[in-house]
Amino acid sequence: MQLPFDGAISAFFKEDAPDHVRKAIRRADRDEILNDSYPYSERMARKAYERELALLQIELVRMQAWAKSSGARIVCVFEGRDAAGKGGVIKRFREHLNPRGAQVVALSAPNEYERGQWYFQRYVDHLPSAGEITFYDRSWYNRAVVEHVFDFCTDEQRRQFFEQVPDFESLLVSEGIQLFKFWLNVGQAEQLNRFLAREQDPLKQWKLSNIDVEGLHKWDDYSKAISETLERTDTEHAPWTIVRSDDKRRARLAAIRHVLKSLDYDGKSHKALGEVDESICSGTDIWNA
Ligand code: ADP
Ligand code: MLT
Repeated sequence: MQLPFDGAISAFFKEDAPDHVRKAIRRADRDEILNDSYPYSERMARKAYERELALLQIELVRMQAWAKSSGARIVCVFEGRDAAGKGGVIKRFREHLNPRGAQVVALSAPNEYERGQWYFQRYVDHLPSAGEITFYDRSWYNRAVVEHVFDFCTDEQRRQFFEQVPDFESLLVSEGIQLFKFWLNVGQAEQLNRFLAREQDPLKQWKLSNIDVEGLHKWDDYSKAISETLERTDTEHAPWTIVRSDDKRRARLAAIRHVLKSLDYDGKSHKALGEVDESICSGTDIWNA
């Protein structure tokens, strides 16, 4: 299958990528982490990852049983740049859950009808009912970042978004919804390396879009929009959790742990949960561009 942007990622790598990014990718071996400011130099070993993930997934099953019996409603929002690993984290959360009651919401660009609605409306349509967990793979935060960076919304629409979002989230929380907001933070070299892999792999090419290709030239615009968003929407009732996702394995474990630790489900095994690695999963103070 010929993609409209065939070869665009490797062309960017050869011609336009910043030097430090190109060097990091060239010198990297398989397990190295391509981000000097990441707290570890190597990816987590597969065996340890799989062992810890299995324990956490058992806890997730318990958590879902509790949600069903208690009627809890849980929302996990996943945000982050393209290739930050949102889909991968969500997949590990859901792997052993009953899919009925653990739905993913990954909406496409709003159609004309939706553009005529209140901005939050189509997201509200998918909020969980009693016993359900909803994973948003991208969310209403599109307006604050992607739509702004690509001029898909006006400044006035974005201003209004920032004005409404604290109240919107406050309503969700006061309604009893357990709201988790994750921002997955990936470095520029790791992002480009993932794009290169997607370009090469016929099974991953569907993940690439024109937004990704054009976005390659907009790293700094994204950084600015993200900082501003985190600053303006990190509220007491709906705080952000930043997950540094240069190492996908550590990121997945940390995000799942964070959710499990925060919920008061029956039969929780603190031993199985272990501790959240706060050097990669914490508040907005660990975000960096
Ligand atoms: P994804 O990262 O979800 O695979 P893309 O990288 O193609 O998708 O697009 C990023 C986000 O930008 C998506 O949520 C998509 O719906 C949104 N988007 C793309 N085009 C538009 C548009 N014209 N108006 C508003 N949002 C858009
Ligand atoms: C991710 O990997 O972060 C997303 O789920 C997919 C994408 O970026 O296109």
